Amino acid sequence: MEQEQLKQRIKKLVKERNALLMAHNYQRDEIQEIADITGDSLALSMEAAKTDKQVIVFCGVHFMAESAAILAPEKTVLLPREDAGCPMADMITADQLREFKAQHPGATVVTYVNSTAAVKAESDICCTSSNAVNVARSLDADQLLMVPDRNLGRYIAKHVPEKDCICWEGYCPTHDRLRVEEIVQAKAKYPEALFMAHPECTPEILELADHICSTSGMYEFAKQNPAQTFIVGTENGILWRLKKENPDKEFIMPSRSLVCPNMKLTSLEDILTCLQTMEPRITVPEDVRAQAKLTLDRMLAVPRY
Ligand code: 13P
Ligand code: SF4
Repeated sequence: MEQEQLKQRIKKLVKERNALLMAHNYQRDEIQEIADITGDSLALSMEAAKTDKQVIVFCGVHFMAESAAILAPEKTVLLPREDAGCPMADMITADQLREFKAQHPGATVVTYVNSTAAVKAESDICCTSSNAVNVARSLDADQLLMVPDRNLGRYIAKHVPEKDCICWEGYCPTHDRLRVEEIVQAKAKYPEALFMAHPECTPEILELADHICSTSGMYEFAKQNPAQTFIVGTENGILWRLKKENPDKEFIMPSRSLVCPNMKLTSLEDILTCLQTMEPRITVPEDVRAQAKLTLDRMLAVPRY
């Protein structure tokens, strides 16, 4: 089927099913184009909880759809590709976290939202890439266990030096691959450009950044900053909206490897099939969901400063 025809059929079914089509900022362009909402992982989950639509089609990766199911258990949450996982989220299991806690009794567990529901349920509080530093500062604890992302953990440790941060050795294979030489080359070629980086990048890369922020933070930064050229230190799906919202500005990808294969799994065909079959549905066992929700609620209660 032609792409345009597929898009029309999806839009029609979205209406018939009284569904909301959500796409993460890293999804393929053609999916972001027809989504009702695009956004970062947590913003989408919060929208899922707020909407009066009964069906959420979540184009993203597994932990994101799970977060929507945690926050909105009464809704039907569909993930068009159930095999779209996040390797970083799978780098720690609930058993491994229990073991980690046993090794550091009394420490407070701060868990990045890129984690499974079972891991969230074993944690004290969640954080996202945009509020991680505030969350860490808000805690009345001397020692923090940061899971699963070592890079986000080190970034927090740098900005919250008064706390002892012990990081789990997880990482995002996509962001972790970005190399210092690639940034140095891009900066040499575009000396006027500002470099914005996601905190999932390594500390050496973050040292070179003019601005460190979440995916949605990049939209804000690019729009508000008068600079004309930006080097983009995150997954390439972000370009679609950056270019759309800033047609007169230039966005440079410093590396060809900034592609998350899991984020690119979902196709228009998958979305159509998912709307036709109302599968695969993402659910979380109630005991795990209730515990995991507490950790998200604690995070949402942290003042934004
Ligand atoms: P955001 O929460 O910034 O959207 O990031 C999610 C993610 O998977 C980054 O790799
Ligand atoms: Fe996970 Fe990295 Fe892909 Fe984000 S970009 S979904 S952290 S593997």
